[in-house]
Amino acid sequence: MSLLRKCSLSIVLFVGGWAADIHQSVASDDPDAAKTTAVRLYTSEQAKRGARLYTAACAICHREDMAGREPAPELAGETFMSKWSGHSVKELVDRTRTTMPFGKPASLTEQEYWDIVAAVLEANDLAAGATELGGETRGEIR
Ligand code: HEC
Repeated sequence: MSLLRKCSLSIVLFVGGWAADIHQSVASDDPDAAKTTAVRLYTSEQAKRGARLYTAACAICHREDMAGREPAPELAGETFMSKWSGHSVKELVDRTRTTMPFGKPASLTEQEYWDIVAAVLEANDLAAGATELGGETRGEIR
């Protein structure tokens, strides 16, 4: 009986130690541990505004549903997410602003690009939250 008790105690200690290790490695491997994911970084109101802008400025090439049409790649789906995963939302906004709409870069306002990217995040099933995307946004697409 006492042997059994000893055994289960050591299992508990072992599991506890393992969990502590994981915690530590997450904390030390990621220098930007405070960085959040793209989830909840935009509001659904902002995504609605962005979707209207997207329809007017982007859908002709990337299609209304963002599935893309050669040579314009998809902006929603697994290919897009695996390409952009690990990049910051700001990088996506900058990339969009400096190159899109194709042939007419930077033709929308900075705010409009943030709004369109909010629509892109929503189309990729990242959940909306209470704060709008904007110049102060720090967050990673994951
Ligand atoms: C005239 C067609 C056209 C229009 C309009 C257009 N795009 Fe594009 N887009 C492209 C093409 C072609 C590419 C691929 C070449 C490149 O990446 O520059 C692309 C690439 C992109 C990429 C990079 C995708 C990736 O896989 O990394 C993003 C993001 C993007 N477009 C967003 C937009 C947004 C947002 C708009 C509207 C503001 C827009 N595009 C309007 C044709 C277009």
